[in-house]
Amino acid sequence: MTTNGNRTPLIAGNWKMNLDHLQAIAFVQKLAWNLTEAKHDFGSVEVAVFPPFTDLRSVQTLVSADKLPLAFGAQDVSEHVSGAYTGEISAAFLAQLECRYVIIGHSERRTLHGETDEQVAAKVAAALEHNIAPIICVGETAEDLEKHGPSAVPVAQLRAALANVSGAADFVVAYEPVWAIGSGQAATPEQAEQVAAALRAVLVELLGDDVAAKTRILYGGSVKSGNIAGFMREPNVDGALVGGASLDINEFASISRYKQHVGL
Ligand code: PGA
Repeated sequence: MTTNGNRTPLIAGNWKMNLDHLQAIAFVQKLAWNLTEAKHDFGSVEVAVFPPFTDLRSVQTLVSADKLPLAFGAQDVSEHVSGAYTGEISAAFLAQLECRYVIIGHSERRTLHGETDEQVAAKVAAALEHNIAPIICVGETAEDLEKHGPSAVPVAQLRAALANVSGAADFVVAYEPVWAIGSGQAATPEQAEQVAAALRAVLVELLGDDVAAKTRILYGGSVKSGNIAGFMREPNVDGALVGGASLDINEFASISRYKQHVGL
């Protein structure tokens, strides 16, 4: 697989636990205005934001009322449909809010909340059942990297996450080396490409050529406007999952407009 010509790149902003619903409204309005003013072609590079749960209804209302060309999604989802799960949010609720995506298995959920590969797989299935595209996060820690090399852990995590997936499911994979998240120390484009290629090989093996060819693989971990172009030049990297830099409107818009400022 050497071409990403038929996959629309996705720039996804993971706000983590930042910006309340009022701040979200102002942010999304400004971001959309900024990109529209700059004549961003949303059809050729998709832009999505991932606010906290409590912001989603406000973002949905704004996006739908003003017909903003931005996509949005949630940062997590319950593996259960409904019932006695205090504090959990079901995929059915997210579907009602018109979430196009949901981030699943982010390393902060895996480490801070002990999320297992089995739970990640169950959440992926729950999202797909409600026609929400999961963004499946995988990535190795610095220790994993030293012990097992770069691809072993992300590949194993992806295999586990896809345990309940068969056929032509619509999902996204995000390769996020844990050591690169929030550290200012991004992977090199070559490192990202090496793992992304290994992940695409897993997709070929498990789901076939067609799914592998159309599934987007993002890189995440200290992405900013100054390094995005290097990642986007790699054939198996189809976008970015951006944390810290997604909270700065100009910076996030600039990342989304990488084609303009580097002439790609
Ligand atoms: P970062 O976070 O861009 O701040 O490194 C990425 C992420 O956690 O998705």
